[in-house]
Amino acid sequence: MKTPIRVAVTGPAGNIGYSLLFRIASGAMFGADQPVILQLLERNNPDSQKAVKGVMMELDDCAFPLLAGVVNSSDPKAAFRDADVALLVGARPRSKGMERADLLDANAAIFVEQGRALDESASRDVKVLVVGNPCNTNAWIAMKSAPSLPAENFTSMLRLDQNRLMAQIAAKSGKTVNDIVHPAVWGNHSPAMVPDLEHAQICGRPALEGIDRAWYEETLIPTVAKRGSAIIEARGASSAASAASAAIDHIRDWVLGSGDRWVTMGVPSDGSYGVPEGLVFGFPCVTKNGKYEIVKGLELSDFIRARMQKSIAELESERDHVAKLLAK
Ligand code: NAD
Ligand code: LMR
Repeated sequence: MKTPIRVAVTGPAGNIGYSLLFRIASGAMFGADQPVILQLLERNNPDSQKAVKGVMMELDDCAFPLLAGVVNSSDPKAAFRDADVALLVGARPRSKGMERADLLDANAAIFVEQGRALDESASRDVKVLVVGNPCNTNAWIAMKSAPSLPAENFTSMLRLDQNRLMAQIAAKSGKTVNDIVHPAVWGNHSPAMVPDLEHAQICGRPALEGIDRAWYEETLIPTVAKRGSAIIEARGASSAASAASAAIDHIRDWVLGSGDRWVTMGVPSDGSYGVPEGLVFGFPCVTKNGKYEIVKGLELSDFIRARMQKSIAELESERDHVAKLLAK
């Protein structure tokens, strides 16, 4: 029997939590022979704690063979103790009519506290995925609040944007997502993101040979970039099952390897492609042996570069806005 992987999950009583925990416990994240211990962190108020107890009862009732334990705490240091993976989901989600920037102040303090707690008690190799929005800047805050952990341990979730891009291309081209390789989404998880088809292939041919450039620029890009709002409009709540599924994809590929496939991850920039060092930015990556690498040496068109500048400017302004919190 393998040693269990300790997975901390924040916001377990929320919508994404409810879609995520059961899949982790069933083996979808690390494979069918890898036990897990879930370490839950929920807010310390009676309603949230009552709800999390209900989720834990349901986890028990699934009798998952791979679930080696579940602990619940409202103390970040306890919940992150020795964690190998930390999924930072818990945050206030955007509701109808609210812009992501409005979330910045509401959520920044959470990620200062959680970054400090990770610094103190998580495994030194902990793989952190920030899902709670605005996820790139929240990941940056957590990273800066955890100076003793390597910066590259902190990532944010753009995999949902890559998955959305692939689904749209598959539908347009009449192919399946399995026929598509090398899609990428650069930048911020916000409407300023840059879905990039310029390197993508469908059935081994350049995607833009079969897909009309005007449709790509004028329809596909805004559809993917504003999909979060479209889901909120349709469901009355932000995406949950698809977000949980993307979180599984992100961590599974980071831990088990992506092979030749590109996987979009929000990672601290190493200065590649002119993205200022340290900004947590969506890049196409490949993963191997538990490490990711940004795909280097791609030719970027002026069209893509100009859009990337918007994401850079947005992330710099978010970073400057929250930087004062770190000084406290
Ligand atoms: P939700 O409101 O249903 O659940 C959030 C949960 O987090 C609640 O149970 C809440 O009590 C808990 N929580 C809040 N503050 C906490 C804290 N400090 N510590 C621990 N738990 C805390 O929201 P949801 O639908 O599950 O969404 C969660 C977050 O994920 C939101 O910020 C949302 O915008 C974001 N999101 C990101 C993506 C992405 O692609 N990056 C996609 C969808 C949603
Ligand atoms: C999403 O992309 O579905 C989420 O980030 C929700 C949102 O606020 O856009």
